Amino acid sequence: MIQLSHVYKTYPGPVHALKDLSLTIEKGEFLFITGPSGAGKTTLFKMLSAFDRPTTGGLVVAGQSLIHLSKKQAPFLRRKIGVVFQDFKLLSDKTVFDNIILPLQILGEKRHHIMNRARDVLEQVGLLDKANTLCSSLSGGEQQRVAIARAIIHRPGLLIADEPTGNLDPKLALEIMKLFQRVNEQGTTVVIATHDYALLEKFGKRRIHLVGGQVSQDFL
Ligand SMILES: Nc1ncnc2c1ncn2[C@@H]1O[C@H](COP(=O)(O)OP(=O)(O)OP(=O)(O)O)[C@@H](O)[C@H]1O
Ligand SMILES: [Mg+2]
Repeated sequence: MIQLSHVYKTYPGPVHALKDLSLTIEKGEFLFITGPSGAGKTTLFKMLSAFDRPTTGGLVVAGQSLIHLSKKQAPFLRRKIGVVFQDFKLLSDKTVFDNIILPLQILGEKRHHIMNRARDVLEQVGLLDKANTLCSSLSGGEQQRVAIARAIIHRPGLLIADEPTGNLDPKLALEIMKLFQRVNEQGTTVVIATHDYALLEKFGKRRIHLVGGQVSQDFL
C-alpha cells in the first residue's frame, strides 16, 4: 500500500524534516506514528497524501509512484485517500454538511447517496444535530469530528489522520479510535499520528516512532 525508500525531505533553512526514511505499510494495516514535536510526522503525511514531494527517494502509494506525479494527477490519487489534517482545514463559512460532502461531490455521486452517507458519518462522529451549523461556530472538538467525517465519507482505501483526537476528551477520543478501527475492518488502511500513548496502548497495533525524521522504533 505504502512504500518509502530512502526518503529525504529538506525544507529551506535547511531543515532536514525526513532523513533516509524507509518504510513499508501493507494494505489493510492499522498503525500509529508517534514521535516528539518536530519529528516529521506531519511532513510524512504531506508526502503520503501527495500535498508535497520528497526532496529525494522513492515513494509509492496505492501502486502509484508519487515522485513523478504531475499536478494534474495528484487530485486523482487524493480521491482514494482520506486525510484528517492537524489543523482541520475546514471551510469555516460553510455548514458541517457542506464540508463533509465535498469528497462525494468531487466524485460526482448522486444526491440520495450523498445524503445517506452524510447521515451515517455524522451519526458515527456524534454530530447529526449540527449538520446545518456553520463550522466557524463549532468547538475545537466538534471541528475535529467534522474533519474526521469528511475524511471517511468516501470510504477511502487509505485514511491518514494527524492527531485526530488532540482536541477531544478521553471518552470521545476512545470512541473516535474505535470508529477508525471499524473503518479499518471494512478494508481501509489506517495510519494515525498521535501523542496519546495511553490511548494507543489500548489497541495493541504496530507503532512507528520517529525521531529527527528517522525511524527510531518500529514495533507491535
Ligand atoms: N513548510 C516548512 N518549512 C520549513 N520547515 C518546516 C516546514 N514544515 C515543517 N518544517 C520543519 O520540519 C520539521 C518536522 O516538522 P513536522 O511538522 O513534520 O513535525 P511533527 O512531527 O508533525 O510535529 P508536531 O508533533 O509538533 O505536529 C520541524 O523541524 C519543522 O519545523
Ligand atoms: Mg505535526
